[in-house]
This record gives sequence, structure tokens and C-alpha cells, in this order.
Amino acid sequence: MRTLTVDLLILGAGVAGVYAALAAEGEGARVLLLSKDPLPSGATPWAQGGVAFPRDVADLEAHLQDTLRAGRGLVEEGVARSILEEAPEHLERLLAWGLPFHPEPTREGGHSRARVRHLGGDRSGLLLLRGLLARLRSPVLEGHLAVSLLVAGDRVAGAYVLGPEGPLEVRAGAVLLATGGLGRLFPVTTNPPGATGDGMALAYRAGAVLRDLEFVQFHPTALPEGSLVSEACRGEGAILVNALGERFLPRYDPLAELAPRDVVARAVFLEGLRTGGVFLDLRPIPRLEERFPTVVAQARALGLDPLKEPLPVAPAAHYAIGGVRTDPWGFTGVAGLYAAGEVASTGLHGANRLASNSLLEGLVLGQRAARAALASLAFPKAPEPLPALTLDPALLPGLRRRMGEGAGVLRRREGLEAALAFAEGLPLEESPPDRAARPHLEAGNLALLARLLLRMALLREESRGAHHREDCPGEAEEAYHLEARGATLCRVP
Ligand code: SIN
Repeated sequence: MRTLTVDLLILGAGVAGVYAALAAEGEGARVLLLSKDPLPSGATPWAQGGVAFPRDVADLEAHLQDTLRAGRGLVEEGVARSILEEAPEHLERLLAWGLPFHPEPTREGGHSRARVRHLGGDRSGLLLLRGLLARLRSPVLEGHLAVSLLVAGDRVAGAYVLGPEGPLEVRAGAVLLATGGLGRLFPVTTNPPGATGDGMALAYRAGAVLRDLEFVQFHPTALPEGSLVSEACRGEGAILVNALGERFLPRYDPLAELAPRDVVARAVFLEGLRTGGVFLDLRPIPRLEERFPTVVAQARALGLDPLKEPLPVAPAAHYAIGGVRTDPWGFTGVAGLYAAGEVASTGLHGANRLASNSLLEGLVLGQRAARAALASLAFPKAPEPLPALTLDPALLPGLRRRMGEGAGVLRRREGLEAALAFAEGLPLEESPPDRAARPHLEAGNLALLARLLLRMALLREESRGAHHREDCPGEAEEAYHLEARGATLCRVP
């Protein structure tokens, strides 16, 4: 067995992972990044809109209020405020590094003013990540996947890794999860194929708490196969119409096309059902091809021409609002284990993430988690890998179908129960880590998370933010989180 020892092992090479690595190597640490896929990997390069930065000190309060309003009582205000206060430091650094942010911010849903900074038109995530990767000196092992975490007593001490040359044991003073979300649990998603919830499953199996998994954010405007049509399009004038050609959003919310994302996603879903389809008219946007080159190219690849006709759109699973519960420094509560980015639940997003707050969170928490991890390094002797968790990937399409039917934009008890019965019937297996293969591991992670997500969605008998129960349409008086640790699932005020 090949073995490596590093100070900080980072799983995932999106914005949170790479920014964390830059912070850690800046402190002289030995860092190793693992990426399942060739770089640039993860969901970051797929992000179109940009990074939400408060425009100035006066705007910080407004940005905070927008974040609190969208999050429906579940945003942790102190966490959100501290992230927004730290934002200017990161923007200044990125500008000093030469990242080509457009000088004029744009507006997205739920934001009371234009404060989203974009790069390369709608190639924000890709150019941001390329800019970070260009500065990175630490090694990145592409095509490498963590099968399970190494543990010694109750401390995480590395990972058992599968790569093209076979298994590898990486011992580490600390492990930082930056593995992104779980969109691939759903039949239509804006997420890349690798969004299989790996870090959430690894953390849970090592004893960490998973929080609020039921809050899956559905992006209101995806093309039929799931490619994203950025919310920034609506910020710059695009209009949604139903199959009767009527502009319908003003009937749902006074902010119309710029209402928070959960409101727009539900409206698009309902109007699609009622009239047979919903279309996004991009023609009001000046210089469309220059401003949104990715959107135009994606539409053309499907034989659609957004310069001539409105595009058919529907909601698609987009962002895991819940995840591994961490403190404001990315600590999971399990010694040696940290998390940052979409995999984590820090309290910033509450029940409904405000558009483009996530890349900002990836930067802030990436740096904080790296620093906190380096302050707590330990190298216990002889750590052992936890078993691998696997499922036959041929069973995934059935699971995805039930997730789409039961746990989509609108949910009901019966649909959730049917999906849960299916997920609980799946033959998840624990096996020695050296026997696992990537498709089986990813399917195992998704099935484990489906069970937890569905149990949480059943337990949350209310509608709040991204979680909407048709059979419980009201919001409970007191906001609460749902947390799973081991066999226990509980409400936490
Ligand atoms: C978008 O461009 O609409 C996505 C932005 C986000 O999810 O934050």
C-alpha cells in the first residue's frame, strides 16, 4: 500500500478547496488536494452568476437583511454578519491577483440591489477557479476519490484513497472536506456528475452531524436537460412567461422576476403544470451573446436560439443548503475534520440560500477552515480506514426518479414516504475499502443521503424556504434545524 503523509488533506478542488489550499500553503503547510475529476473540477466552474460582495460598508447591512429575509428564520445572524464583514478582504485580494471581475455589479433574485460581481460574462466560476488554480503550488491528485476516512480513536487522521494507480493511504494532521453538494440525487440537476454528496456521507460515517438536508434549492430556470440559465439573466431584464404567453411572476410576488429563488422556482413549477410550459425570454437583455456566452452556447447546443425565441425552462436541483454542520471556522466537531463550501452547513443560508452567497462563503470558510485545521494538527499512530459504503449503481435511476416525484419543488407526505420506502429497500453494503469502485461508492453515498434527506423532509411538517410541503403549507411559529448523527434525528431550536 502506498502511503503519503501531509499536514492538510483537502478533498475537492472547487473554490473552497483551492482557496483553503492557498491559505494553508501560505502558512508553510504541506497540503495535498484530491479531485475526483480532471481540473477544473467540481461545481465552481459551472457557476455563472458571480460572487455576492457587499458594495460598501453601508450595503453590508442591506446584504445581511437580504440574506436573513431569504433564509426564513434559520440564518445564523452572527455567522452571516462575520462572513459579509470579511468579504472585502477577499475581493481586494482577488483583484490584486488580477482576477478579471467586471467593475459593474449585477443584481440577482432576493438581492435588494446590484452587488454580484461577475467574471467573463457568465463564466464567473470558471474564471475564478482558473485564477486560483494558477496560483496554487500544492500538488493536486486528479482522478482520486476518498473511499473512506482514516480514524484513530475519535480523531480523523487521513483518508483511504482510490486513484488510477490503485489505492493510496493519505495520513494527515487534519482533513478538510470541500466536496460540494448532492444534486445528482435528482433526475434533473444543474450539478456536474461528481455532485454525489461524498463529503457529507464520509463525515456522517465518521460521527459528524448532518443538518437540514431537506433544504435542497431548486434553481428556477434550467434548460430541459438541466443546464443553468443564470439568475443574472433576470437581473438584467429577462422575463418569464407561461405557455399562454403571459408574464406571471407579478401575480406571485411584488419583486416578480427578482423574487427570492424559492418563490420563483415554485411559481415556474406551478405555471408549467397549469399551462403546459414556462419560457424565459432573454431578448430584452442588451448584448446578450457578450454578456451571457455560456447560456447562449448551451441553448444553441440544444437547437434553440435565444436571440430569436424564448427558451423552455423548468426548475432543477441546484444547491444543497444543508450539509455537514460546522462552527464558523469550519470545524465539524469531530477532531481533525473540517468542512467548507457547499458540503458544509455553517448557518449562512438558513432555509433558502441567497443567490451568489455561496462562492463568497467558499472563499471565507475555505480560508478560515484551513487556518483552524492547521492550528489543531495531530498525527496519531496507526489510523485505520472505516469500511467503504457501496451500492450497485444500476439502482440509481430508480432512486432519482422517486426523489424527483417525491422530494421535488412541491412535496407531500405520501410522495416522501414512497421515496423513503424505496431508498430504505436499497441494498447498501459495507465492504473493505480496497474492494470499492467509484460508481459503487458514489451510489452508496447518494443512497445514504437520500434516506437522511427524506427522513428530514418528512419530519419537517411545515413549509419554509426551499422545503415546501403541500400538505403543510404554513411556516411553523418557531424556526428549528433538523440534525442527524448516527441513528439519531432530532429538532434543534
Ligand atoms: C445563477 O447564476 O443563477 C446561479 C447563482 C447561484 O446559484 O448562486
